[in-house]
Amino acid sequence: MSPRHTPRLAAVARPRRAVLRTLARLALAGTVAGVCGGALLALPDGAAYAAGPLTVRIGFVAAISGDYANYGRDLQNGVQLALDEANAQGLRIGDQVAHFELVALDDRADPRLGVQSAAQLANQGVAAVIGHFNSGTAIPASRIYESAGIPMLDPAATNPVITAQGFANTFTVISNDAQNAGIAGAWAIDVMKAKRVAIIDDRSAFGQGEADVFERTVKEHGGNVVAREFAAMESDDFGPQLSKIKAADADLLYFGGLAHQAASLVKQMKARSMNTQFVGGGGVANPDFVQLAGAAGEGAMAWEYGRPLAQLPDGPRFAQKYRSRFGADVLAYAPFGYDAAWAAIHAMVAAKSAKPDVYRPVLGTLAFDGVTGRIAFDEHGALKNGASTLYQVKQGVWVSVMTRGG
Ligand code: ALA
Repeated sequence: MSPRHTPRLAAVARPRRAVLRTLARLALAGTVAGVCGGALLALPDGAAYAAGPLTVRIGFVAAISGDYANYGRDLQNGVQLALDEANAQGLRIGDQVAHFELVALDDRADPRLGVQSAAQLANQGVAAVIGHFNSGTAIPASRIYESAGIPMLDPAATNPVITAQGFANTFTVISNDAQNAGIAGAWAIDVMKAKRVAIIDDRSAFGQGEADVFERTVKEHGGNVVAREFAAMESDDFGPQLSKIKAADADLLYFGGLAHQAASLVKQMKARSMNTQFVGGGGVANPDFVQLAGAAGEGAMAWEYGRPLAQLPDGPRFAQKYRSRFGADVLAYAPFGYDAAWAAIHAMVAAKSAKPDVYRPVLGTLAFDGVTGRIAFDEHGALKNGASTLYQVKQGVWVSVMTRGG
């Protein structure tokens, strides 16, 4: 027996009450984690001591393999950073020091796997879920979380249907496409003065959803939609669609879909010598687009959610922390993942409980300054006062042009 065990052996000989106090102190210091299973030790006089760290499992689910893996890993890193910081701060939930543990699953952007992952996370007893990346997975998965009574905080999926379902357990920490594509549609007509607008979407709940909002807004602002085309999410051949759009002499093309398809699209536009202005919706203005599109990406525009990270008070510090921890730059939605995780943590700490039915009402009324801006939810769980920013590729870099809302 090593000498450092002596004090605990000595404690065995003490009166029961003193032993319990010693154990409680050790538990508070994290020394007997697991021994007391997180329960409170009741003392004879009715006093109670916290009996060990409270392990809080936080679910994370997104596409972390396949075409969207870069977005998923970026989000996961943002969530992990928040949990690491919360653990390092030794935050208490009620009487116990909380230890946050990430349970990460890959839904591969597939709605069927999204639902399966949601059921798996619910079975594992997670206290909250940060995810999913795609609206197409988030919408069906949200029904599972609603019946399991587990809050889902979505940092990336932006179809307004997600919160419009009216679920008590659904929250979004990013602005939605009613706003982002609506702003883009009004801007295309009122500011860009586009005369002949073409639209392509990827047929996903996200891409089709934002293209519908864009088209409706363009028409409301007196614009003329000369072509409305689509290609499946998996496709990278836009030949037939671009032939029609070129023949229709469109001066602006809006794309509802993500960066890798957008990059194929601009390359094929360049190959056809089209001088139609390309405008992406969300999920396009990131370094992956620039890298994949190469020279064809020059001049491309896109409306993204939120404000530029560099212009936010904690943005540069977040970017630096992210780089030192993961050895890479933020790709897209990591700051939203970070804020989503902190929203859950703040609510649990304020509610003194990690039980969803106890902390959920607190989450609904929470307000704090996150990396991405003020985080507070409307009565449906949608982010209040989200912003949208227009970017353009100039000399191979996305440069912010203007921000609306927020
Ligand atoms: N914003 C994208 C979606 O909703 C990622 O699917």
